[in-house]
Amino acid sequence: MKTALVTGASAGIGREFCEQFAARGDNVVVVARNAERLEELKAHLEGRYKVDVEVLAADLTDAGDLQRVAERVAQRENPVEILVNNAGFGVKTSFLDTPVEKEVEALDVMVKAVVVLTHAAAGAMVARGRGAIINVSSVASFLASGTYSAAKSYVTVFSESIAAQLHGSGVSVTALCPGFTHTEFHERGGISVDKSSPLAKRLWLDADRLVRDCLADVEAGRVISVPGRQYKAITGVLRVVPRPLVRSHRLSNRHRPSK
Ligand SMILES: NC(=O)c1ccc[n+]([C@@H]2O[C@H](COP(=O)([O-])OP(=O)(O)OC[C@H]3O[C@@H](n4cnc5c(N)ncnc54)[C@H](OP(=O)(O)O)[C@@H]3O)[C@@H](O)[C@H]2O)c1
Repeated sequence: MKTALVTGASAGIGREFCEQFAARGDNVVVVARNAERLEELKAHLEGRYKVDVEVLAADLTDAGDLQRVAERVAQRENPVEILVNNAGFGVKTSFLDTPVEKEVEALDVMVKAVVVLTHAAAGAMVARGRGAIINVSSVASFLASGTYSAAKSYVTVFSESIAAQLHGSGVSVTALCPGFTHTEFHERGGISVDKSSPLAKRLWLDADRLVRDCLADVEAGRVISVPGRQYKAITGVLRVVPRPLVRSHRLSNRHRPSK
């Protein structure tokens, strides 16, 4: 039995990680802002799987809250042996149409918190000689699509780098790169997406399969996990095509100054 700490546990992919950890008998520390949803998740997981669930309500954009989570990650009693940096959100508007505070908030949640919590976890895990860190990135990390894909590029390269530095320590680091996945992500971000066309049906992933594939990749020691054959093919292409071609897919969304 291990203890896993999952950020963004109140919904979507994070909630699914908690479900699968609890199903295999692991205890879970659940982190997100919505305390009510976390308490509901605790009651569900403890009732169904007889594991212990700790609720840690925190806003990762708040320095004090982030520090509390980092302290729990590094704690010696009931040590966290698996860290999932999953919390995140999408920004619908183009760079100049988005208030800069929102851009910085995205970096706080999807970059700063990932760095702080990975640092806290890696130190404690290396001292124990074992552990696993999963950083939820995105297929967007291979694109050039605003602050979101820049933040996710950071997460992918950061994870590769720390995985290399910790090689042989007993601690693994994996960047999970999902493509379109059925969660609350697009609705919360006000991002309209096609889910019903035949192409969309082939593209969209279910969170349970995504997490299952990711955990198999972690078990296999993979540093980058891209669940789904469709996304393995897409990211394979994105890694070799010239960057001007990668950039060109955003041209239709370029900022047009108002007259
Ligand atoms: N769904 C996709 O298509 C897709 C594709 C690629 C990558 N991803 C990535 O997958 C991860 C999970 O997203 P999801 O699809 O599961 O979205 P989701 O259903 O909207 O869940 C997002 C989670 O992040 C938490 N969160 C957001 N801001 C937070 C903050 N300031 N402090 C603490 N927690 C915060 C939310 O909880 P509270 O609101 O309770 O705080 C929620 O639990 C994200 O990193 C996202 O970028 C998603």
